[in-house]
Amino acid sequence: MSDYYSKLIELEKAHHTKLFSKRDFVITKGSGALLYDGKGNEYIDCVAGHAVLNIGHSHPKFIAAIKKQLENVVMVPPGFPVEERAKLLENLAEITPKPLTQSFLCNSGTESIETALKVILAVNREKSNPEIIAFKRDFHGRTLGSLAMTHNMKYRKPFLSWLSPNVKFASHGNIQSVRELVNENTVAIFCELIQGEGGIHLVPDDFPKALRELCDEKDLILVIDEVQTGFGRTGKMFSFEHYNIIPDIICVAKAIAGGLPMGATIASEDLYNKFQEGEHGTTFGGNPIVCAAANAVIDIIKEERLIDNSALQGEKILKDLNTLAEESNLIRTVRGKGLMIGVEYKKKVKELIKKAEEMYVLVLNAGLTVIRLLPPLVINDSQVAKVLDVMHKISE
Ligand SMILES: Cc1ncc(COP(=O)(O)O)c(C=O)c1O
Repeated sequence: MSDYYSKLIELEKAHHTKLFSKRDFVITKGSGALLYDGKGNEYIDCVAGHAVLNIGHSHPKFIAAIKKQLENVVMVPPGFPVEERAKLLENLAEITPKPLTQSFLCNSGTESIETALKVILAVNREKSNPEIIAFKRDFHGRTLGSLAMTHNMKYRKPFLSWLSPNVKFASHGNIQSVRELVNENTVAIFCELIQGEGGIHLVPDDFPKALRELCDEKDLILVIDEVQTGFGRTGKMFSFEHYNIIPDIICVAKAIAGGLPMGATIASEDLYNKFQEGEHGTTFGGNPIVCAAANAVIDIIKEERLIDNSALQGEKILKDLNTLAEESNLIRTVRGKGLMIGVEYKKKVKELIKKAEEMYVLVLNAGLTVIRLLPPLVINDSQVAKVLDVMHKISE
């Protein structure tokens, strides 16, 4: 049997693009916060599909919702009303603040950002040279519009000739630096309030309000990228709720459909009304299977009080890791909110991630020196204790 799994790894390495480095075990099953490999090893999953599996793996209610929809109808395009899509659109309007009542449903985070960008350009169609402000270290995706607003040169470099020069980058969390970039062409600001790929950096507590005020003062559209932070990850449904602001556009994806591909761009009717029919569209976006999955995710998050668990377990982990940071010579700082936690080391973390894996805890990097913990929000006390034990061991 182990030959069989080795063969599968070989096949992935041979025929998948070289864009992804591969772990050397094959996942065969997931349950809650746990993953199992072909040899029967059990891992605590603090990767969670890169902040996707907020409700955990194989939740029975999630599976039942998908199965039911699968038996009814798999696909009808966006122009054909269907029960689960209607319910999801209502659900999204309900969990986000007024006046954000309309959603464009798509298939990924980068698409949700592209949609926001197109809304902004459509709203400002009279302007000849609209500019956007994004932030250093922010990550908004890899298609050419979202990549133009993603700061890291590692992702941008080969594609620079096609990336719009109309995006200016401010220092994350620094309102003065934003103000300096605003001019008569500026139309919008894109921001991750808690940077995920960039290394779990939080803005100062007073920054979001200052950003909101600046947008109001200069008539700019404020887009908050909740792709990684959304659906309870940070101990609130959305990260902007920590700061008591209302964005003009919210971009979500990842956890929204529990592991099936979905993104959504949520904004007011006023903004979406500036789009004319046919100026944007999608084939798969909002298909009924994925909508059924997303409705189940929202129900499960509410029924099982997963946001409370995210806040509670997150606080516990942060407290413990901060104490560890004081004792360990290897750790520089610990940052995070809820179950979105980064531990910055004084060295590269690749080997440490491997060590954790050998002790059956799966963790993720963010850049070269940060270990990211993004466990499912269903993680329980004993699993948290095991994760912390392993974090201590790899930090010795
Ligand atoms: C904050 C943020 N925005 C956008 C994206 C892009 O999402 P996707 O990979 O689904 O296109 C990501 C992906 O990691 C992200 O973390």
